[in-house]
Amino acid sequence: MKEMSQKVVTIGLGYIGLPTSALIANGGIEVCGVDVNPKVVETINQGKIHIVEPELDKSVEKAVKSGLLKATTEAVEADTYLIVVPTPFKEKNEPDISYVEAATKGIIPLLKEGDLYIIESTSPVGTTEKMMRLIYQERPELQDKLYVAYCPERVLPGNVIHELVYNDRVIGGVNEASTEKAIEFYSQFVKGELHRTNARTAEMCKLTENSSRDVQIAFANELSLICDKADINVWELINLANKHPRVNILQPGCGVGGHCIAVDPYFIVADFPVESQIIGKAREINNYKSFWVAEKIKNAKLEFHLRNGRKPRVALMGLAFKPDIDDLRESPAKYIVNKVLQNDSNGEYFIVEPNIEDHNVFKLTDYQKAIEEADIIAFLVAHKEFKGVEIKEDKIVLDFCGIRK
Ligand SMILES: NC(=O)c1ccc[n+]([C@@H]2O[C@H](COP(=O)([O-])OP(=O)(O)OC[C@H]3O[C@@H](n4cnc5c(N)ncnc54)[C@H](O)[C@@H]3O)[C@@H](O)[C@H]2O)c1
Repeated sequence: MKEMSQKVVTIGLGYIGLPTSALIANGGIEVCGVDVNPKVVETINQGKIHIVEPELDKSVEKAVKSGLLKATTEAVEADTYLIVVPTPFKEKNEPDISYVEAATKGIIPLLKEGDLYIIESTSPVGTTEKMMRLIYQERPELQDKLYVAYCPERVLPGNVIHELVYNDRVIGGVNEASTEKAIEFYSQFVKGELHRTNARTAEMCKLTENSSRDVQIAFANELSLICDKADINVWELINLANKHPRVNILQPGCGVGGHCIAVDPYFIVADFPVESQIIGKAREINNYKSFWVAEKIKNAKLEFHLRNGRKPRVALMGLAFKPDIDDLRESPAKYIVNKVLQNDSNGEYFIVEPNIEDHNVFKLTDYQKAIEEADIIAFLVAHKEFKGVEIKEDKIVLDFCGIRK
């Protein structure tokens, strides 16, 4: 097989694919970024970006200006192919790998002996081998003549440019030669440690990382439900329990959101339903916590109405899936707001999300006005703006995110 190649095709130019493409190009390697969305392609070719991520604009501008990064809607021939398309879940919480399959099918005719094919998309165990079989089915003459590997991404949105370079990576090939080839590829632009394994372990590793977070948060959320019944302040309790040298409990919240932690555990549960008892239960507990929060707010409204003879004005503080971001994907706060508003068309609500200017469904209110005018204030997300705000004593405050602990 031949020497390390110097032309890369990345398929999918989103939150992960675009910064990765720019990073590789800025390292002096020619990159062709492919996306099915022509608007994305057009924007990138102008040296601009279509997503919000600090420093990404400069990185893409530099890569495009140098001529090393070009975007297209159709893949071209290269030596290394990176698959970075979405892997959402379907209705019954089953992983949807159709994007990975479509992206792979698009490059099969372009593959040649010695090429390196890597999946970065979060994928169920066995996906890399499945794609390899798909490739060899259509191109039997290439059987065992390609390098095939899986390398999951674990960057934190908001810090992607730094973490892409400095995070450790787990790299698993379908055989040792593939692992080595992929290690060689990533070592050109990653400064973190590169850990060798096989494809199945690398796939499971990504799912494990996020399931671990989900299970740990579920433990904290379960404690919050118990403490509510037992009339104990859960924040104080966790703080005290964490004084134990070997205990480290996470903080409860109004659920778990985002497109990783709230999604990836389902990829394990769907394939291993009998074995994944704790992982499945954690998903249930974290989902239930959001339902419970909505019920708590509704009950507080009812009590207020009975006591005061009028409906309360309610401030719902936060829509994002975690503090200080504008991302609403799988957001428990958004779910709670929807649930509370359901069948209450004449209720008076102030919906607050300081990280977003406008929302296509919710009319947003400034947080200070909401706090000033509401009778009930429900904190759903611990945004920095909400910390330390003065609240008059006659207000009912429901703190589901520990912002006033
Ligand atoms: N965003 C993150 O923080 C993050 C972190 C770790 C892992 N991941 C994983 O990385 C993968 C990509 O995530 P993302 O956030 O970059 O997604 P994204 O939705 O931001 O971007 C994906 C892009 O792929 C394009 N696309 C879809 N099908 C295509 C096809 N067949 N050919 C070419 N382009 C196609 C879409 O138009 C889109 O621009 C997912 O599996 C995700 O779970 C994401």
